[in-house]
Amino acid sequence: MPDMTFVLFGATGDLAKRKLFPALYNLFLDGKMPDAISIIGLGRTHYQHDDFRFVVEKAIREYSRRPIQVSNLQDFLNYFQYFIFDATSKESYQSLHELIQSRESELDIPENRLFYLSVAPQLADVIASNLNASGISQTKGWRRLIVEKPFGSDLKSAQQLNECLSIAFHEDEIYRIDHYLGKPMVQNLESLVFANPALGLLLDHTQIANVQITASETVGVESRAAYYDQAGAIRDMVQNHLLQLVMMTALNLPEQLTAKEIENKKIEVITSLRPIKKEMVYKDIVRGQYTAGEVLGTPAVGYTDEPGVDISSTNDTYVAARLYIDNPSWSGIPFYIRTGKRTNEKSTRIVMEFKSKVNDTTKLLTEGITPNLLIVEISPNENISLRVNMKDPSLNRFIPTSINFSTTAEDQPEAYELLLFDAMIDNATFFAHWKEVELSWKWIQPIIEAFQENLLPLHTYPAGSTGPDAANQLLQDNQFNWW
Ligand code: BG6
Repeated sequence: MPDMTFVLFGATGDLAKRKLFPALYNLFLDGKMPDAISIIGLGRTHYQHDDFRFVVEKAIREYSRRPIQVSNLQDFLNYFQYFIFDATSKESYQSLHELIQSRESELDIPENRLFYLSVAPQLADVIASNLNASGISQTKGWRRLIVEKPFGSDLKSAQQLNECLSIAFHEDEIYRIDHYLGKPMVQNLESLVFANPALGLLLDHTQIANVQITASETVGVESRAAYYDQAGAIRDMVQNHLLQLVMMTALNLPEQLTAKEIENKKIEVITSLRPIKKEMVYKDIVRGQYTAGEVLGTPAVGYTDEPGVDISSTNDTYVAARLYIDNPSWSGIPFYIRTGKRTNEKSTRIVMEFKSKVNDTTKLLTEGITPNLLIVEISPNENISLRVNMKDPSLNRFIPTSINFSTTAEDQPEAYELLLFDAMIDNATFFAHWKEVELSWKWIQPIIEAFQENLLPLHTYPAGSTGPDAANQLLQDNQFNWW
């Protein structure tokens, strides 16, 4: 791996502490860091380098998936320097440039510069244009920009942001993070069929009745009301994570492809997503908001009673949708997606339901036959299983039984480890490319507008439940149930 400078905007923020420092530390333990690297953390807090190193150390002690190794801890901390930074001040960029250059010559490393934007979205374009204007991003080596979500808040703002970033960076230098793409089981989807021809036979589209993607959470809005009350589940989870999961699921590749070819395939999928007209949103989309209830035995207040949320807020904390991919592979097979805060469980999973050969529902019920399912559990468990019916002779009924295909390897790398490593080695496979992001926003836009114009009901659901009843109806319309 080439030596480089890693400039982290937002180095005193929550993401840096909980995800980025631990990810870098685990890469370090695995020997997956460059021989020489200068990591410069930027923030407004008045830290000295040593204060910052202490923050880094505290973060890895608290959040690293592997314990600290005292013997080489200092070597890791020595990578870090801190710089007090005001993203809107030209002088800040000048001084930052000098610091980067002096570290580069001190460590004798080339001008390979990786910029990580973990900042408020409104600062992303300011920073990108200043990096350009100050000359920091005009390097003799390579330069890359990693951008955290949210990437815009609607189609127009996403396009504007992208235009702005494009002035300073080419598309192949921009790495848009969608941490769901860093989850090992999601990465697995790309090569699942290629590596397992038997599964490929099973996933013959003519045999699949429907596909269900769930990303449910038990947490509420936490301390993020200012952002979340504007974003809602539709922007926070559906536009990015869930549509990325739809793309990754529908890829179903019989061969191994390059990053570029995968990108093209994903674009093909999202382009084939049947558009939903604003006036028709009520038919295929369900939105909900949690009321007071009990989550895993603990009482939980309703959304509008959460700190920082407007008492009259009509924001969506739950979205379920029925969508169709109009391409030869998936034509006519409904995809159901759902995500919600304060539901009964934390689970991200993909379930493919197979068609049943028995049409007599009474027979199905009396004999206990349930549909075969292929279940890909993404988190918190990582597992692939096939649910089949096995006859219990003593009961003379079929009992659903799971065959597990994967033993969960303990100690899997975290999403951010995989993503940071990929960005360092210039592998863009598991990042969201601009066209995917733009087309996702295009598909979402009428839904956002229908929400804003109240063209569909806002259902409620008690905290700790599976979501609003209307989300069940969405499947029952086609004689299906959520799994
Ligand atoms: C983030 C959302 O992108 O994903 C959060 O902003 C959400 O609201 C989180 O809680 C869920 O991620 P994970 O990895 O816990 O499923």
